[in-house]
Amino acid sequence: MRSIKQIKNLKNKIVLLRVDFNVPIKNGKVLDDFRIRAALPTINFLLKNDAKIILLTHLGKDGTASLEPVIKRFFAVSKIAKNKVTFFENLRKFPGEIENDQSFAKKLAKMGDVYVNDAFSVSHREHASVVSIPKYLPSFAGLQLENEIKNLSHVFKKIKHPFLFILGGAKFSTKMPLIKKYLKLADDVFIGGALADDFLKAEGDEVGKSLVDDANYGISALLKNKPVRQAGKLILPSDVVVKSGDKLINKKVNEISKDEIILDIGKETVKDLMLLIKKAKLILWNGPLGKYEDGGAKATKEILKIVAASKAESIIGGGDTVDLISKMKMEKKFSFVSTGGGATLDFLVNGTLPGIKALR
Ligand code: 3PG
Repeated sequence: MRSIKQIKNLKNKIVLLRVDFNVPIKNGKVLDDFRIRAALPTINFLLKNDAKIILLTHLGKDGTASLEPVIKRFFAVSKIAKNKVTFFENLRKFPGEIENDQSFAKKLAKMGDVYVNDAFSVSHREHASVVSIPKYLPSFAGLQLENEIKNLSHVFKKIKHPFLFILGGAKFSTKMPLIKKYLKLADDVFIGGALADDFLKAEGDEVGKSLVDDANYGISALLKNKPVRQAGKLILPSDVVVKSGDKLINKKVNEISKDEIILDIGKETVKDLMLLIKKAKLILWNGPLGKYEDGGAKATKEILKIVAASKAESIIGGGDTVDLISKMKMEKKFSFVSTGGGATLDFLVNGTLPGIKALR
């Protein structure tokens, strides 16, 4: 993979720069501009070398969203003059983008002289602007893409021990390969969030009305092979906060009743996790530890502060966790915060992504 730093002469070259400005928007306003700011070093590098830039991004799933709020925020936060950078339309307006249509990719390629991918967070998608423009133009990796690869690779290439992997969030099916892989690489794998509900259910605990992924993804096999509950690698919560009517109650995991919902990990579990964080030299964290959108963000926030204060190398990923970090204005407190959601998960499992392979 060649870096933009290796491009010989950029003067007056038109660079098609694929960024991922797929950011949360509400009432016409960008709620979080972390992904926009992450692309600025590459944009400034290209401008310093007198290139002309056309930014390519998608926004939303179906291409109906207007890029206006993104464009407005981009020029406000970057302080770049309006005539220096052009935005192409929301890529997903064109069916050829998602279909990876070659004639669409060629049309895009014709607009520029050079292609740069600085969109790590969409590089798991085999879309025209990600994997096919590189077939038709000299192609390079942007600085953020390089940063993501370098930092995320530490968790399988430069492992420091003890290595603690904290995994939360939902969607058990997408996280099973991750759990299997990191049970081999990490010293401790702590499971929180809705994922823990699945494990607790598989262990025979009552989980009430909590969010569970009903399909059987082989959890029982994982549980049989591994010692659980503070005894070894796979660590599950020993207590949780449940919503019982209007009340929030801290309970042992074997005390949950049928009409309760698990909202967060409990006090004892937070303490146990703190001890693991204190002894860790490398921490990888993906996904919130509770139902943070329904008032279960307390433990995640507490643990984020502990990880930020620890001396361990800390690598954080996943849309929801990063969203909280942004809101708490803590981005700089960790060794690395990934811009990716699904892309980070795929990279952590496979060590590469289609968009990265396309640059080779
Ligand atoms: C993301 O937000 O994870 C990326 O922009 C990819 O978006 P997608 O899940 O709609 O492909």
